[in-house]
Amino acid sequence: MLERIGKPEFSSLSTPSADALLVLSKIKEKKDRVTIAEVGVGIGATTVEFCRNLGDSDKIYLFDFTATLNELCGDLSALGYENVFPFGSTRHTYDSYVWQLLKLAKHHLNAGDPAIFDFIYLDGAHTFLHDSGAAAICKLLLKPGGYLLFDDYNWTFMSSPTLNPEKKPEVTGWYSSEQLSYPNVRMVCEVLMDSDKNYSRDTLGGKLNPSRVLYRKSDAL
Ligand SMILES: C[S@@+](CC[C@H](N)C(=O)[O-])C[C@H]1O[C@@H](n2cnc3c(N)ncnc32)[C@H](O)[C@@H]1O
Repeated sequence: MLERIGKPEFSSLSTPSADALLVLSKIKEKKDRVTIAEVGVGIGATTVEFCRNLGDSDKIYLFDFTATLNELCGDLSALGYENVFPFGSTRHTYDSYVWQLLKLAKHHLNAGDPAIFDFIYLDGAHTFLHDSGAAAICKLLLKPGGYLLFDDYNWTFMSSPTLNPEKKPEVTGWYSSEQLSYPNVRMVCEVLMDSDKNYSRDTLGGKLNPSRVLYRKSDAL
């Protein structure tokens, strides 16, 4: 999987998320031991950089399709990174990381406290169908003072080079024209995040890329 990084056909997935790495360095400044999650790994460009910046007692949980995670975790293990925990999804039409996040939250709710992550980087399907559920569960899974970073805040089906109706006519059967045109991640953030007084936006001192939105969960919870 990691050998794909830098190849022209994978150029859109080859650059690690500078914002995600900045958030990690910010939380590592304050804590000796952190647990983070990446929801949607691509070809591992950000994941491998996360691993390079995590210590032996830190943990990273990964969410994506099972086959993708098997390949990526094999590569990471070969590089000596063993503090990686994969949560794979099947390719069933309606399956996604939402189910894995639900199962994880249920497990930790039963154990007493679902707030296990210092940082979650949500960069998966970018559709309201998956990401409204994912955001709601990530809010439960985040520790007080933790960070939730949304990627592709402005992404739409219409502007996607691969999923626009000309390239992929099926999408007009799956989603309404409003859903194809309005940025789905923006919709999720507007409704589930901006309305929540326990979360505030953070711009990383003005450094945050405008295609991403970062929220910090209040300490006082
Ligand atoms: C844009 S890529 C992630 C890029 C990565 N975070 C990075 O920084 O390089 C989106 C990922 O979300 C995953 N994804 C999309 N829909 C999914 C679904 N329904 N279930 C599981 N994973 C999904 C894709 O397989 C892909 O790896």
